[in-house]
Amino acid sequence: MRKPIIAGNWKMHLTLAEAHALVRQLLGLDAKSVDVVICPPFTALSSVAALVKGSRIGLGAQDLFWEPQGAFTGEVSPVMLVDVGCRYVIIGHSERRTLFGETDESVNRKLVAALKHGLLPIVCIGETLAQREGHQTFHVITRQLEGAFTGIAEADGARITLAYEPVWAIGTGRNATPEQAQEVHAFIRQWLGKRFGSSLADSLRIQYGGSVNAANAASLLQQLDVDGALVGGASLKADAFGTIMKAAVEAKVKAVV
Ligand code: PGA
Repeated sequence: MRKPIIAGNWKMHLTLAEAHALVRQLLGLDAKSVDVVICPPFTALSSVAALVKGSRIGLGAQDLFWEPQGAFTGEVSPVMLVDVGCRYVIIGHSERRTLFGETDESVNRKLVAALKHGLLPIVCIGETLAQREGHQTFHVITRQLEGAFTGIAEADGARITLAYEPVWAIGTGRNATPEQAQEVHAFIRQWLGKRFGSSLADSLRIQYGGSVNAANAASLLQQLDVDGALVGGASLKADAFGTIMKAAVEAKVKAVV
């Protein structure tokens, strides 16, 4: 059975005081039987790392650059993320792709760098509304997977989490239906099977992301191939995030019984 993984992508939200208050609330939640990750903005990583140290909450960054150091104004390297206490890093989020020029090639370079430095990457893929309506979803997903996984060996693949995030569902309040999510997740797992074999395909976790909240999490997480959630807006509220964590554990217990 794949252990569920719930990650909070805080995006460009929260001052230090707000971030610390949220973390203190999160530390009070029951995080057994689920991997919990929070991804604050870069400015809060260092102090949040101190707060979550020794707890069950894993720390992640929202992006990285692929070089270890150098003249790259404004960028943050994998070495720096490890140094500050990150275990995880989100790569290829659709906001990075659409607003900041991220490509399948840069996603691949970042993925290679993250793995090289021992980080656990959460790689985001997903189609836009126009692509879905144009029946391009599987084509786009295949292209993004092929691009991201170029040159990645099976042993490294095992450290990756994928996040299927239909762009039209992110921050819109319009989540994919559980059936829509399951259909794409199953397709992704099939692709992984062809690329790496069934062992990796069966073990690699695929999160769903896009307007996940306390009310819809259970039905999404009950889907066979939905192994967790990448949560934006609802991760900024401890009670909603806690409900999603609980839904993940309960959904997977049900799946085994
Ligand atoms: P959302 O964001 O939950 O606010 O839709 C999800 C994400 O962008 O990862």
